[in-house]
Amino acid sequence: MTNKKITIKDGQTDNEIELPVLDSILGPNVVDIRALEKNLGYLSHDPGFIATSSCESKITYIDGNEGKLWYRGYPIEELAEKSNFTETAYLLLNDKLPNKSDLNDFFKSISSNYNVDEQIKDIINIFGKGSHPMAIMSACLSLLSAKYHNEIDIQNKDYRYRSTIKLIASVPVISAWILNSIMQRDFQNTSENLSIAENFINMAFPDLSDDQKELSSRAMDVIFLLHADHEQNASTSTVRLSGSSETSPYAAIAAGISTLWGPTHGGANEAVINMLEEIKNSDKDVEFYIEQAKDKNNPFRLMGFGHRIYKNYDPRAKIIQKIAHEYLAKLSKDNPNKPLFDIAMKLEKYALEDEYFVSRKLYPNVDFYSGIVLKAIGIPQSMYTVIFALARTVGWVAHWNEMIEDKNFRIGRPRQLYTGNKKTKYTDISER
Ligand code: ACO
Repeated sequence: MTNKKITIKDGQTDNEIELPVLDSILGPNVVDIRALEKNLGYLSHDPGFIATSSCESKITYIDGNEGKLWYRGYPIEELAEKSNFTETAYLLLNDKLPNKSDLNDFFKSISSNYNVDEQIKDIINIFGKGSHPMAIMSACLSLLSAKYHNEIDIQNKDYRYRSTIKLIASVPVISAWILNSIMQRDFQNTSENLSIAENFINMAFPDLSDDQKELSSRAMDVIFLLHADHEQNASTSTVRLSGSSETSPYAAIAAGISTLWGPTHGGANEAVINMLEEIKNSDKDVEFYIEQAKDKNNPFRLMGFGHRIYKNYDPRAKIIQKIAHEYLAKLSKDNPNKPLFDIAMKLEKYALEDEYFVSRKLYPNVDFYSGIVLKAIGIPQSMYTVIFALARTVGWVAHWNEMIEDKNFRIGRPRQLYTGNKKTKYTDISER
């Protein structure tokens, strides 16, 4: 740790303060500004958290300029090729890869919790046809927070471990039941001998052949793994902020689900398919849509393009693009999803050669190709963000645990730059 002298000029006086610079293992070092308020009475201002580190974390690191992502130091490409979702979940939670017996015990603890409360089915049934599955999912998590409310003991490691495992096991089962309901199918049973992805595919598509189930489970497993964590994004920061009030972890995850739902975060994969379908069904070519995306008077944006941190190709998009290629090829030559994939590839090609996208460093993000694979698997479009939430639950609980174990843990409470009325006297309604 070093110190950095900073001069704050407020037009009248120059205030000098020495602030500690905290060393990061990777990425920019961080100026600890906490003394700013205490010593000088200033706050820092950073809407959208462009340059603000909100916590110390050891879980995930993104190099946005290089387009690289590591979970606990392991490159995402290597994990996608050699690991699986269950092992990666263990890694994210425990900061190390498991040996065979660790992995076995971890998997058993998860699969023995597949038996989710049957009342969840009543909650799903309450929602009318056409209800968005993310709203249903959030309600299901609220039911779990009600059910386990009396157990809350967040400083207790055993409680945290039990809730962590329950969440990782329950959310995929809840997601499969929501899918059953949307596809107007009976609620399917779970199978304790199947991995999270296999169990999900088996519950979602019980009529598929064993070969098809295996193919879809493998694609789904990689999609889960790629979405498992992404450091301090909007939904993870929400889970941290919500959890910092010492609320139930189920309630904090419900808050994360609500944040992930938005079209500029997890909801983008749904928006990408809408956009590709629109292009497919229109008589306009891809260049027309590229031009629309560049037009500042037009609200249209190229969905699945751009990212706050990646100023290069999102490494997850590269992996999913490859999966989309392989998966569509294995399904059949005239797969109905092939035209969407072709349009996506064409959009990408044009955008990557266009000065507007190049100068703003706008590249495909994880959502650009994930919807195509999910569509080919047979997942209804409104469920895409649920799949994302299912996978991200692992990251959310890893961050929740890390936050509570942090020696500096305290409730999150941002400040503000007040620009409202000056102190004003109340006038009676008769005098207004
Ligand atoms: N299409 C066209 N132009 C874009 C796009 C896009 N997809 N994304 C950004 N731009 C332009 C902006 O208009 C802006 O241009 P300007 O400098 O001329 O004003 C510039 O690029 C910077 O964009 P910002 O909106 O300031 O970038 P920010 O970091 O705030 O937003 C975001 C990032 C929300 C992801 C944005 O790129 C976007 O809306 N993309 C489409 C939605 C999407 O794919 N979201 C998924 C994100 S990944 C995830 O959550 C899993």
